[in-house]
Amino acid sequence: MAKPATDRPLRPATQLVRGGQMRSNFDETSEALYLTSGFVYDNAQQAEQTFTGEVSHFQYSRFGNPTVQMLEGRLAALEGAEACRATPTGMAAVHGALLSHLKTGDRVVAARALFGSCHWIISTLLPRYGIETEFVDGADLEQWKAAFRRPCQLVLLETPSNPMLELVDLKAVSDLAHAAGAIVVVDNVFATPLLQKPMKFGADVVVYSATKHFDGQGRVLGGAVLGSKKWVEEVLQPFLRNTGASISPFNAWVILKGLETLHLRVQAMCRSANTIAQMLEERSEIARVCYPYLPSHPQYALAKQQMSAGGTLVSFELKGGKAAAFRFMDALQVVDISNNLGDAKSMITHPATTTHMRVAAEERARLGIGDGAVRLSVGLEDVEDLVDDIAAALDAVSGNPAPKKKPLARMVAEETVAPAKAAARPAPVKAPVKAPVKPAAKKKAEPVAAPVEAPVKAKAKAAKTAELDLFEAPAASKPARSKKR
Ligand SMILES: Cc1ncc(COP(=O)(O)O)c(C=O)c1O
Repeated sequence: MAKPATDRPLRPATQLVRGGQMRSNFDETSEALYLTSGFVYDNAQQAEQTFTGEVSHFQYSRFGNPTVQMLEGRLAALEGAEACRATPTGMAAVHGALLSHLKTGDRVVAARALFGSCHWIISTLLPRYGIETEFVDGADLEQWKAAFRRPCQLVLLETPSNPMLELVDLKAVSDLAHAAGAIVVVDNVFATPLLQKPMKFGADVVVYSATKHFDGQGRVLGGAVLGSKKWVEEVLQPFLRNTGASISPFNAWVILKGLETLHLRVQAMCRSANTIAQMLEERSEIARVCYPYLPSHPQYALAKQQMSAGGTLVSFELKGGKAAAFRFMDALQVVDISNNLGDAKSMITHPATTTHMRVAAEERARLGIGDGAVRLSVGLEDVEDLVDDIAAALDAVSGNPAPKKKPLARMVAEETVAPAKAAARPAPVKAPVKAPVKPAAKKKAEPVAAPVEAPVKAKAKAAKTAELDLFEAPAASKPARSKKR
């Protein structure tokens, strides 16, 4: 028999392991995966009463599913939100939050610094349905004030923003938006619920791409929308269930298990990001480093006020534009080139040619996304390996020979397949099973000539930032345990 739920408020690390769990009659330890599209009823009357709402019973996995409900309960507990709905992707979460609330004739104000697809929804999709949209510089309160002189129904903002890590003052903008009659929707992907709780500052709705830190291991897509019980049940839920934005129970289960280590992962990644940001500031190849917890960040004071750490991403602009950025990325041996983020593996992105390539060039310029800008998602590798990798790649930009990148999979294939065959095959290929082959170690970069001071200093600073603590005061809410949807 399962123990009763505790009455004590639980801290985030505990919520991430325990929040939302519903045990079946088998009393399993791990959350069960209910990989089912539908559910059966004892009799016709029970089916009828389920549909009228008199009886609490799952109907169909597009409307609700026990595994998905556990994920929603865990996320709501962590966020301190009354309700949550999980979605198949982060974009389904953003789209659902916006389209469920808006109608023709409404007006939306958005911070200009948004992820590419969110930018497209505001600039292109909403106007097609007769919804007026306006972008403002999210850091400029005067622009927000001017935009709110006319009625407005919804505000969308991202803080820190993708990719240049600009912040929006959540409290000030929420107060202004509410006075204008708008709800505030915050895309909190970059901060995660551990570092920033937008609802504490007045936001009404928070959206996530669960693809990022929540899974955090590069396996599945997912998303989530959190808000008041009334808004979620009356506005969001009818839209999601009737338009089909339902997450697969399998993906929900993977994310649930990913959440159990979110706290540890984000804490370690933030520490490393801090160290790397400091190391980058000392390199002459770099024009500017963007990291909210660097005192040089123009909104450092705001970052300290609304975030409990600087986050897991560091963006920086290389002198020498696109050529320098590409040379740097190609010279990295540990960090992968990928447009994803929040993963255990560190990843580097060139936003101007990937995630933000569809944002018009002049808009990109306004957002500060220069051709030399790169976004680094800091993973869980040893920070010293990351610092070494970045330093060596920067050396390559400044003229020292670039170490050649050799992905591990291809090295295994090349060394275990006869040369003629290897050349004919598309790489990467799996190692043949013939003999137990020891995967070749990643080729070490050529020792960097004239050791740069930065890594050494960074190591010293790593010790200073090691005490970074993301533990927060206990959340007031109990884990959601209700079965009713
Ligand atoms: C800030 C932000 N919001 C939303 C999304 C969309 O998430 P998904 O790819 O899960 O749809 C992303 C994806 O990179 C993102 O970075």
